Amino acid sequence: MSILDNIRLNKAEKFKRNYERYREIHYLLNLYGSDIINSDNFRMTKAHIQHGNVTVNEHCMHVAIYSLILNNALGLNCSTEDLIRGALLHDYFLYDWHDKEYLSQRKRLHGFRHPMIALKNADKEYDLTDIQRDIIKKHMWPMLIVPPTCREAWVVTVADKYCSSLETIGVHKGHGKRITAAH
Ligand SMILES: [Fe+2]
Ligand SMILES: [Fe+2]
Repeated sequence: MSILDNIRLNKAEKFKRNYERYREIHYLLNLYGSDIINSDNFRMTKAHIQHGNVTVNEHCMHVAIYSLILNNALGLNCSTEDLIRGALLHDYFLYDWHDKEYLSQRKRLHGFRHPMIALKNADKEYDLTDIQRDIIKKHMWPMLIVPPTCREAWVVTVADKYCSSLETIGVHKGHGKRITAAH
């Protein structure tokens, strides 16, 4: 086999591995999160920007996907269901934190307040486990000083920071209207 054939074979194998991983992740997201993903309120977050031009909806999907990747890569053996549901709901605050008129006061406190607002909203609609509650409540550590108390919450906290950074610097792109003002 020539070097060129070897390169082609390696590329094909890499593509196949990535495709299988992509299918597995989407299978798990649908298995454990389809009720959330297809709900009116979660869909409504497509209208709200999180970072750059990434919507809250896209951000939560990114965080759920990267939480699964991190759990798998580090062999942490997290509960897949809690990881996915907690990640999908971690920013379930249901308002646009860039809306100056509506949120002139609230915006300044958004970073501190939104985990508890998200928890309250999620609690109203879903039967949350203690692990899912911990994920939502603690994901803003260390800004909020109480650290996560389970590995699922640590994984989502790390995935959230990773995704937020990539979204802010424009590596992760979204479909929302880019916010140009400083925030
Ligand atoms: Fe958040
Ligand atoms: Fe987040």
